[in-house]
Amino acid sequence: MKAAAIDRTGGPEVITLHTLPVPKPAADEVLIAVHTAGVASWDVYLRTHPQAIKHSAFPLVLGTDGAGTVAAVGEKVKRFKVGDQVYSYSWDNPHGGFYAEYVAVPAERVGHVPQGLTLQQAGAVATTGLTAIQGIDDALRLKAGDTLIIHGASGGVGSLALQFAKLRGVKVLATASGEDGLTFVKGLGADAVVDGRKGNILAAARAVAPAGVDAVLAFAGGDSLERCVEALRAGGRIAYPYGVKPDPRPRDDTAAVIRYNAVPGPQEFERLNRAIEAAKLRVPIEAEFPLAQADKAQERVEAGHILGKIVLRIR
Ligand SMILES: NC(=O)c1ccc[n+]([C@@H]2O[C@H](COP(=O)([O-])OP(=O)(O)OC[C@H]3O[C@@H](n4cnc5c(N)ncnc54)[C@H](OP(=O)(O)O)[C@@H]3O)[C@@H](O)[C@H]2O)c1
Repeated sequence: MKAAAIDRTGGPEVITLHTLPVPKPAADEVLIAVHTAGVASWDVYLRTHPQAIKHSAFPLVLGTDGAGTVAAVGEKVKRFKVGDQVYSYSWDNPHGGFYAEYVAVPAERVGHVPQGLTLQQAGAVATTGLTAIQGIDDALRLKAGDTLIIHGASGGVGSLALQFAKLRGVKVLATASGEDGLTFVKGLGADAVVDGRKGNILAAARAVAPAGVDAVLAFAGGDSLERCVEALRAGGRIAYPYGVKPDPRPRDDTAAVIRYNAVPGPQEFERLNRAIEAAKLRVPIEAEFPLAQADKAQERVEAGHILGKIVLRIR
């Protein structure tokens, strides 16, 4: 099979097209004929720091998520059959990643593609969708009427978290950057928007919630995140997935700082599917690259200012 893999660490140019054996699924695994793979900052990180995962032997096929069609199942797998349309998030996947024509993944990390999504869209939302819904429901336990700042709402996770927050009846102040970023997050349903690089976050938050917002869900860190945290009410809470850096400064009056990792699992995908279907989720894809241009796809990710998601089209 064709796969985009690295034989050493380095810049995007170390990602080259390889011909590798099709992985053989173990008893509890599913072989997926990949249609679309997600491309994200953590893929860039693994290109430069492959030692961050256990299964990092070269040639290392990059890619932690994607969607496609089940091509084979291990003998213990009951939830899937050949031909099912599926999507998956598998960090440190035992047989290499999703930038490939085939990937073998533990079945526990696979879900059926929800109604209403194409394989291209499903390939864009496995990791980001799980991260978004788990931030809203599990980390922050938001309910209707709560007020929330989503910091970095224009990116892969933020653009979905914004829609899930609205689905739960939350009032959202979205930060993004540039006129295009602000227009984008308004279009996804934000109640109020502010430029998180140049605007006055605190003033925008006071206009939404004069006594302070209930929560912050952050997909960008640094000084601008400090401004979001200042906008919290006493006892408010902050959540962000590991990877957002730098961490906000500890404060006495903040009830909870919740760091989390996205978790794949049968129930997790079921809940994500229900939310995607109920929200009639829009999946903004800024650009799609062919597998042979995985290096260009990562370059685009590194350049930043992406409205939504970058994906690789495999077949
Ligand atoms: N641990 C986990 O399980 C997990 C899972 C998923 C994601 N993550 C982490 O979550 C973070 C977000 O991931 P992602 O894929 O959504 O990244 P992304 O697509 O790069 O999104 C981040 C967004 O933040 C925006 N941003 C940055 N600084 C800003 C500012 N000052 N004001 C307003 N917007 C700002 C960027 O927009 P501009 O460039 O246009 O300003 C970008 O759209 C990453 O750190 C990732 O590592 C962790």
